Amino acid sequence: MSDTPTVTSRIPGFYKKSIRDRLARMVETGLLSPASRAFLERGGGLESDVADRMSENVIGCHGLPLGIALNFRVNHRDVLVPMAVEEPSVVAAASNAARIVRMTGGFFGEASPPVMTTQVQLDGVPDAARAPARILAARERLLAAADAAIPGMVHRGGGCRDVDVRVLDEREGVIVLHLYVEVGNAMGANVVDTVAEAVAPLVQDLVGGEVGLRILSNLPLRRTVRVECDVSADAVGGAPLADGVVRASRFAELDPFRAVTHNKGVMNGVDAVALAMGQDWRSIEAGAHAYAAVSGVYRPLCVWVRTDTGLHGRLEMPLAVGTVGGSTRVHQGVRAGFELMQVDSAAELAVIMGAAGVASNLAALKALAGDGIQRGHMRLHHRKQALAEESARRHLEGGGQ
Ligand code: MEV
Repeated sequence: MSDTPTVTSRIPGFYKKSIRDRLARMVETGLLSPASRAFLERGGGLESDVADRMSENVIGCHGLPLGIALNFRVNHRDVLVPMAVEEPSVVAAASNAARIVRMTGGFFGEASPPVMTTQVQLDGVPDAARAPARILAARERLLAAADAAIPGMVHRGGGCRDVDVRVLDEREGVIVLHLYVEVGNAMGANVVDTVAEAVAPLVQDLVGGEVGLRILSNLPLRRTVRVECDVSADAVGGAPLADGVVRASRFAELDPFRAVTHNKGVMNGVDAVALAMGQDWRSIEAGAHAYAAVSGVYRPLCVWVRTDTGLHGRLEMPLAVGTVGGSTRVHQGVRAGFELMQVDSAAELAVIMGAAGVASNLAALKALAGDGIQRGHMRLHHRKQALAEESARRHLEGGGQ
């Protein structure tokens, strides 16, 4: 990315500016295309014909505020983080936490190779106990058949890397074949669904039974992201508050009821970026919570421990995201997001989304361990409430019921 301008994500006072001035500041980065700029200046509504082709029975567009989370530094690079979210305080909280984290170098993370999991179900397989061995003996043939079904992806460096088989019910002969497919910078759902459908008849020939479902798993255990950061105790507000964050994290490790809320706080960041960047947030949500429970106990996705100087945070979760396909080319707001974020790969996007999750989690725990969440939250909530009352008044004045 040597020919693209270097941006700073540190823009003091951004929140105090008008929307028009904030947009002008984004234009100054030199990253926004004229089409994205015009789209945002119009308020970010999709053209009706675009909306009509994206979904069915369309009657309009559903808008969400699009904000920029600031102060993010991820793997030594300043990055602007677009977030689409209706909940007040999510963008401000993430920006505040990112400011604290950048004082000690920012976020560091890596994504595993982009390997998706797809499943082929077989029922009524005779001698199910021996089916895995028979299928695995044909491993190379299955990998070749899978690759033959996705020549474009193979050409781009992807392809089927591995298979395994699980016996789900020996008596009923229910087995499932997993195929692990590297999908490059795509989210990969279509690619792996194609693979599952192509390979299913071969597996049936090998072991008999009846083919059932052929579809990706939204628990892509081989496509994960890890993000870590250090923060100083001073930056979070002192040693007692740092201790409070660790106690809060421990609470989530010990109690699924708390872990769910803790993870909701993580997903405030992850989902807001997912929406802004046109990602399949339903699959991300499904995978995140399944991963949290994969040990048999529902656990926090991000944990915090005390260090000599402050805190160390670590997040690990599956994250199937893409920088190509889906709505990445179709939706002008998503294009604007990509222009501002400047990511080269799905892996880089995943790390930034993970960083947004860590920041959101830190902000929540810091507030909860201190004064509580309500003071800051309610201030923004009242602002939204006032807006709701004003909208209702306008609706009535306009003859609404
Ligand atoms: C609210 O959107 C998210 C929090 O409940 C997360 C948490 O409790 O950690 C504040």
